[in-house]
Amino acid sequence: MTFLTGQHFLKESDFTPEQWLSLIGLSEQLKQERASGTEVQRLQGKAIALIFEKTSTRTRAAFEVAAIHQGAGTTFLDTSSSQIGHKESIEDTAKVLGRMYDAIQFRGDRQADVELLAANSGVPVYNGLTDDWHPTQMLADALTIREHVKKPFSEVVSVYVGDARFNTGRSFLVSATLLGQDVRIVAPAGFEPPANVVELAEEIAAGTGARITITDSLDAVEGADAVSTDVWVSMGEKKDVWSERIAALLPYQVNAGLMAKAPGAIFMHCLPAFHDQETSVGRDVFNSFGVAELEVTDEVFRSPASVVFDQAENRLHTIKAVMVATLS
Ligand code: CP
Ligand code: NVA
Repeated sequence: MTFLTGQHFLKESDFTPEQWLSLIGLSEQLKQERASGTEVQRLQGKAIALIFEKTSTRTRAAFEVAAIHQGAGTTFLDTSSSQIGHKESIEDTAKVLGRMYDAIQFRGDRQADVELLAANSGVPVYNGLTDDWHPTQMLADALTIREHVKKPFSEVVSVYVGDARFNTGRSFLVSATLLGQDVRIVAPAGFEPPANVVELAEEIAAGTGARITITDSLDAVEGADAVSTDVWVSMGEKKDVWSERIAALLPYQVNAGLMAKAPGAIFMHCLPAFHDQETSVGRDVFNSFGVAELEVTDEVFRSPASVVFDQAENRLHTIKAVMVATLS
């Protein structure tokens, strides 16, 4: 239970495959304890700072609820109601919060900032999403695959379809590689993960036996056990990129035709997703471009194959595992 005591959680490649698997195992154990009413509070008296430069529903909720379950307290800090960023540097903030808190969660643009917090706070720092990586999401996704795909991770075919240049696409590649999966990134030319991330994954694959395919061909969806995607425009990006994203990525929309290439596959999405007209962004995009469903159709999103809300719930159990493993 104490295998990562005092460690940071900044990106997937900081962990060995064994550590990554251990975190998934601990998540399963904690989920089971919660379900059976036997949860033990391992974080009593701990205080955790939650810094959000970008918005969140799941990640914030998961940290706060996991802390409640485990007996810890949290403080939510954003940039509009604290000094962070505009009046006080990340380095100084780290030194202040490290005197008061037992751990710090950070969500923001720059990976360099979460690393600066880690270097200067003296307490475990958790990356709740940067432009480069989304590692807490990947633990939830792995737990969801374990629950729904009845195969060892090394036999699972995991496919990511869409814009793979950003946090979720990069993290998907590295996490699935740590788990030794058949990892396939299906993206139009220019939307692949950066070369240094692919090289990193290939180095990890040499040890785990993962098979990596990066292609623009939708045929690579054939044989998938899990099909994942993410939004086409991420937090922090300008609205004027929608036009080029829709043009490039509409052929890579996860729709019934695409899912038919992999009968029995589950559909995964970190959420939030643009699958209908029930959001202001979805309506704006429809009014500007006439496209009613974006990275996934409403039909697939609501289909029996969709496990997106299990993924969302698993953010709680996996984030709890990260805090328990590093703090207890
Ligand atoms: N998937 C995810 O990180 O969700 P939030 O942005 O709501 O935290
Ligand atoms: N790529 C998305 C993930 C949201 C959870 C973003 O950064 O906005």
